[in-house]
Amino acid sequence: MYSFRTKQMSVPVITIDGPGGSGKGTIAMRLAQNLGWHYLDSGALYRIVAVVAMERAIEADNEQALGELAEHLEFSLSFTGDNVATLLDGIRITPKLRSEEAGVFASNIAVVPAVRAALVQRQREFRKLPGLVAEGRDMGTVIFPDAKLKIFLTASVEARADRRYKQLKEKGENVNLSRLFRDIEKRDIRDMSRSISPLTPAQDAQLIDSTEMSIEMVLEEIHKLLEEN
Ligand code: C5P
Repeated sequence: MYSFRTKQMSVPVITIDGPGGSGKGTIAMRLAQNLGWHYLDSGALYRIVAVVAMERAIEADNEQALGELAEHLEFSLSFTGDNVATLLDGIRITPKLRSEEAGVFASNIAVVPAVRAALVQRQREFRKLPGLVAEGRDMGTVIFPDAKLKIFLTASVEARADRRYKQLKEKGENVNLSRLFRDIEKRDIRDMSRSISPLTPAQDAQLIDSTEMSIEMVLEEIHKLLEEN
């Protein structure tokens, strides 16, 4: 029988994984726009759970409460142009979601098995025709292992801290570059060393180091890889 799952598996997916500040957000969004495909910022899901957990004073080690929150929380995520609109109970929470504080707490709760398990299906629901560009840490390894093209995007810690600094400054956040550098290093170690779904390239991923590359250059490289695949 032609099941919903079989039908979903026939929808093409491109995954872009990598550490924060590697440029994967901007690049995945632009690629989705170029192709006219859907876009999934999986980090936003972890950030939503983190923001609500912080508001409800749920600690990072309270696995049960975090798992229930990740499973039942009602929110809507929509991506239009280069804007991610996040509605929680009908209220826009996008600015809070993008703060460094939310990113750090998201990385803390992302090690909780019940949170990851609850978000697997919610992420797969974004797979719709004509296609999906999904970015995060485990898109190619765990969520969409059958993706037609998997990219692992990296950049030096210095370049990533510098990019994040500029991004956060533009948003009016008060940031300190050396603290940001330390936070990014700590977040990398936590993301790479957790036991489930660690940040690591899929075996069949194509590695791109964006340290010395512009966004246009990376996009060009991905389009080239797409043609070859
Ligand atoms: O990509 P972003 O900085 O928004 O992600 C915030 C945090 O969410 C990451 O540091 C990571 O710990 C977690 N995350 C994850 N798996 C994903 C996406 C994000 O563990 N697929």
